[in-house]
Amino acid sequence: MTTLRGLILSGGSGTRLRPLTYTSAKQLVPVANKPVLFYGIEAMVAAGIEDITIIISPQTGDEIRAVAGDGSRWGIRLRYVVQEQPAGLAHAVLTAEESLGSSPFAMYLGDNLLRDGIEGFATRFREAGAEALILLQHVPNPSSYGVAELEDGRVVRLTEKPAEPKSDLALVGVYMFRPSIFDACRAIQPSPRGELEITDAIQWLIDSGKVIEPHVVTGWWKDTGQWADMMEANRLVLDAIERDINGEVHESDVEGRVVLEAGARIERCRIRGPVVIGAGAVVRDAYVGPYTAIGPNCHVDHCEIENSILLEGAIIADLETRLEGSLIGRNVRVRRSQSKPKAYRLLVGDNSEIKIP
Ligand code: G1P
Repeated sequence: MTTLRGLILSGGSGTRLRPLTYTSAKQLVPVANKPVLFYGIEAMVAAGIEDITIIISPQTGDEIRAVAGDGSRWGIRLRYVVQEQPAGLAHAVLTAEESLGSSPFAMYLGDNLLRDGIEGFATRFREAGAEALILLQHVPNPSSYGVAELEDGRVVRLTEKPAEPKSDLALVGVYMFRPSIFDACRAIQPSPRGELEITDAIQWLIDSGKVIEPHVVTGWWKDTGQWADMMEANRLVLDAIERDINGEVHESDVEGRVVLEAGARIERCRIRGPVVIGAGAVVRDAYVGPYTAIGPNCHVDHCEIENSILLEGAIIADLETRLEGSLIGRNVRVRRSQSKPKAYRLLVGDNSEIKIP
């Protein structure tokens, strides 16, 4: 079997996920209590990839390294390469050239999530002779993505974020390449947004007469770069969890598909799945409704929460109105205060958003 290496791009500053990304890499924001990046790593591991290079930025690289480690927890090797400037996906590929060597490789954008993983595509690429394999999906807003035009099942043109898209087929953030992609990345010029686009590099391969194999992905795909997508990804992943109760349950109704990690505790609650509750979390006298992910060491007390994500260490207490559709950062405290005068008292970081009924 041809050895396939992996390349995961985890640079990028995550400006559209502020304020969470002021203090953490966007690829580490959790979906159903697991960093987005881990879904990509695990998709590669499931596809038999054992050597993965992760491109990191100088700003968030150390955190990513600390969280993902050397790969031993997955039984693989993880290598890290720093991309000094966010100069585009094709620039990131060039940064990884030495680390990837002459092996064909799968490239995965670190904030993408695919329901069905990449195993089938990796197998197909190992067996077929195409120069590259790209994944596509029909989308309602193609001008937000790279867009592909197909003729007779072949890729004839790729355009990055076209104002007037010629098709509704978006480039999914997963690609399979051979070393020819390095020459392609060297040959292209920066795009109007000043970046070396991988889309243009693949177009260069097409113009050189190479065969690019397209696959339309039918299972769901999410680019979690924006917070609404993050919430949606959370719902989609939670929809597929199985019930697994390891923590302590006291005088509570736990309905449906609920994951309660060891070391979590719930007391006098109604929990209605799909819900995940992380290790060390304590939930008391509360209702936790569908599509909620409560991170490790959170405290939820005398309140109702639904369709929300709480990051590690958040405290939610004594609320009279249900918390809904909310994304709460690490160690954030939202609680009723008894002090006078009766007023809203906010200590909120840059670019936060608060909606009050
Ligand atoms: C990048 C690619 C684009 C692709 C998208 C998928 O866009 O440039 O072609 O469709 O990822 O997530 P970006 O997220 O850099 O805007």
